[in-house]
Amino acid sequence: MVVVVVVLRLQLLNILGVIYRYKKLKEMSPEERKSTTSRTVMIGGKAFATCTNAKRIVKLVNDVGAVVNSDPEVNSYLKVVFVPNYNVTVAEVLIPGSELSQHISTAGMEASGTSNMKFALNGCLIIGTLDGANVEIREEVGEENFFLFGATAEDVPRLRKERENGLFKPDPRFEEAKKFIRSGVFGSYDYNPLLDSLEGNSGYGRGDYFLVGYDFPSYMDAQEKVDEAYRDKKRWLKMSILSTAGSGKFSSDRTISQYAKEIWNIEECRVP
Ligand SMILES: *[C@@H]1O[C@H](CO)[C@@H](O)[C@H](O)[C@H]1NC(C)=O
Repeated sequence: MVVVVVVLRLQLLNILGVIYRYKKLKEMSPEERKSTTSRTVMIGGKAFATCTNAKRIVKLVNDVGAVVNSDPEVNSYLKVVFVPNYNVTVAEVLIPGSELSQHISTAGMEASGTSNMKFALNGCLIIGTLDGANVEIREEVGEENFFLFGATAEDVPRLRKERENGLFKPDPRFEEAKKFIRSGVFGSYDYNPLLDSLEGNSGYGRGDYFLVGYDFPSYMDAQEKVDEAYRDKKRWLKMSILSTAGSGKFSSDRTISQYAKEIWNIEECRVP
């Protein structure tokens, strides 16, 4: 079972992916479900007090969990858990227990900071965009040990411009996931204001500034590659070991000695 932890990184893309996965599992026969890769998806993080849409996302994660976890057809293949009050104490338990971590912020936002390093050091594989430290981690652990997807920072301004000009064509899978939420399967809460932020081509709170719709198809394709890799235990284990082995650069020893040299200008003082 793959355990996935996400800390505040574009949870909307994550939960839309879970919703699509749930819909596909529902459409499968019991036989077909048996050949899929089971997952427990854990989502943590806090919503900024005035960020209504972030609060709606937390609500959506909880609503999806309530439906999926009590669905006897699906709940041995998919579980969704929102981890309240995520902090370093919780992280100490969750990070070593995770197998896949999602660092899926829009490229160029510099939002994938250092928690991805903690996951990589603990043998967890990463699915992510070319944002923040993901770029460095991928370089260190090797591209074959990293599940990459999404627009690059270089693409983002052009993609936003294209969207403004009405040239964005959403992937049918993305439309399907949104429609599924709007159908009311996850309860009576009105998710239209949240989903509307992904619609339209421009205007305040509209036009999908974070390119969730653009990244969605390549995100889902990368998730399929994750499932495939996980089914091959030997391959997954190898990727995991190489991921940890390649993460030495992110140790605090290296970081502190580099700071001492380049920023603080201090000599090391050996303890006898
Ligand atoms: C994290 O939160 C828990 C309660 O949810 C608390 O007991 C713990 O002390 C917190 N850890 C830190 C480092 O603040």
